[in-house]
Amino acid sequence: MKDLDHQHIVLGLCGSIACYKSAELCRLLVQAGATVQVVMTQAATQFITPMTMQALSQRPVLCSQWDVHTADPLAHIHLSREADVCLIAPCSANFIAKLAHGQADDLLSLLCLARPISAVPLLLAPAMNPDMWHHPATQRNLATVAADGATVLGVGCGDMACGQTGDGRMLEPAQLLDEVIACLQPKVLAGKRVLITAGPTFEAIDPVRGITNLSSGKMGFAIARAAREAGAMVTLVAGPVSLNTPHGVQRVDVLSACEMLQAVSTHIDHADVLIATAAVADWRPVTVASHKIKKDTAVPMQSLVLTENPDILATVAQSPRALRRELYCVGFAAESQDLLAQTQAKRERKGVPLMVGNIGPATFGQDNNTLLVVDDVGHREFSNAPKLSLARRLIAEIACRMGG
Ligand code: C5P
Repeated sequence: MKDLDHQHIVLGLCGSIACYKSAELCRLLVQAGATVQVVMTQAATQFITPMTMQALSQRPVLCSQWDVHTADPLAHIHLSREADVCLIAPCSANFIAKLAHGQADDLLSLLCLARPISAVPLLLAPAMNPDMWHHPATQRNLATVAADGATVLGVGCGDMACGQTGDGRMLEPAQLLDEVIACLQPKVLAGKRVLITAGPTFEAIDPVRGITNLSSGKMGFAIARAAREAGAMVTLVAGPVSLNTPHGVQRVDVLSACEMLQAVSTHIDHADVLIATAAVADWRPVTVASHKIKKDTAVPMQSLVLTENPDILATVAQSPRALRRELYCVGFAAESQDLLAQTQAKRERKGVPLMVGNIGPATFGQDNNTLLVVDDVGHREFSNAPKLSLARRLIAEIACRMGG
């Protein structure tokens, strides 16, 4: 099952040098299982040929409302009605102005105006020069189209074709693919704030060594993405991992358990949910040597003195807001045996309503996982699946419990 199986996307292209990225975007949408109907403005055809987009979408590309050879004489009405999502990428400043005023003098603006607003999401991926982006007229028009129900995806910052550097770059094709997938997910956490810990911690011994573990952070990052897809504002407190931040997620990097506790304390007051997936080191060295400890040192590694780290989840779970259930806490238990008993015991010990068990050696670094979801009345297994699928199921489960 692919993320966009059975989804029909209208991909609109306006005149912008970013059109070259739309070829890759089209390919990614098709690879993800979607059927893609490309519609181009005349200006877009100056930047990339309809033939290129036709080859990648495997469908005739539509460029004009006056084309008497198209199969559908009412294409301008039907195109957006048949779509699950309309995505305009790139969306030029001129096209945003047209949308803001309800103008409909070409096929693309026509189909946007004829789109059933409540049924078909319209995503706009703006692309323009920084001065055009920051111009009050553009910002005013963006506010208008957003108020009219379009989703403005924002822009990247960086080097522009014109030589300037700044805001206005179209988001990358992979980010746009994620946005399309996200907009199709149920918004079960709309307006909620979710705080997630992920990855291992690193407890320094000296400037070149430390105590850590094999957690990759993949499960926590997948949950961050799934929570954001579900409409939440997500803060991800990440230990040392080499993973890309899911688009739209605020990331706070930390190294040690104490830093992780500090970051969680800073963000917890506004959170509705804490999902603690981090594999926090249980112990840390009492003192960190300021220089590399040599083999022949007077303080050999065998006599390393450790102290227990604070338990972030248990601490938060005892806070007044968590006890009043204004803050819903979810923990993860990475075990190697007796998964159900260990997860149940850990749920009680940490004082959280929901504990998710998984087998540590089977999950660390893997793309798939199996979860055991344990609460006060029983348990449920989520069978082996990609971590993102499991994350979406878990988010639905959490949302259901919060609603209840
Ligand atoms: O005790 P254990 O490490 O097995 O507990 C696992 C759960 O507790 C995870 O949710 C983990 O993120 C959280 N935890 C924590 N702070 C610690 C240890 C664990 O938040 N110091």
